[in-house]
Amino acid sequence: MAANSGDELHQAVIRDHFRRPRNRGPLTAPATSGHAHNPFCGDTVRIWARVEGGRIAEVTFDGRGCSISQAAASMLTTLVKGKRVAAVDNLRHAFTDGLAPDGPTLPSELGDLRALAGVKRFPSRVRCAVLPFDALDEALARSQPNREE
Ligand code: FES
Repeated sequence: MAANSGDELHQAVIRDHFRRPRNRGPLTAPATSGHAHNPFCGDTVRIWARVEGGRIAEVTFDGRGCSISQAAASMLTTLVKGKRVAAVDNLRHAFTDGLAPDGPTLPSELGDLRALAGVKRFPSRVRCAVLPFDALDEALARSQPNREE
């Protein structure tokens, strides 16, 4: 499969996050954590988050799995650090919409997660890319039991 320069750039961003993961390692309480698991391959992602005044003050991850899932976790933690908890649902929707077969272009607000745009051509890998959002959602739900949807 021939790759154009956009694909190559995206591949380089994915490789960089996989080899030099940002925000890797656990946080201690009062941070909460959430876990996501892909039953088809056994890969896992855990995300820790500390929320302060409705914002994600600290967020980290750990996990084991394919380059897409682990790079996505690095990208996601980088993206949401400092953001309001309420903004996460919109980011998730923009990401999953853009990974649908005929979905729109991933918007700039998704930062490096845009490098995963090509995953839409491989539907079985979409789950890999979204796994960190599942873990983050669980961590945030635990940090704010009354979080509004
Ligand atoms: Fe397991 Fe990607 S192959 S999460």
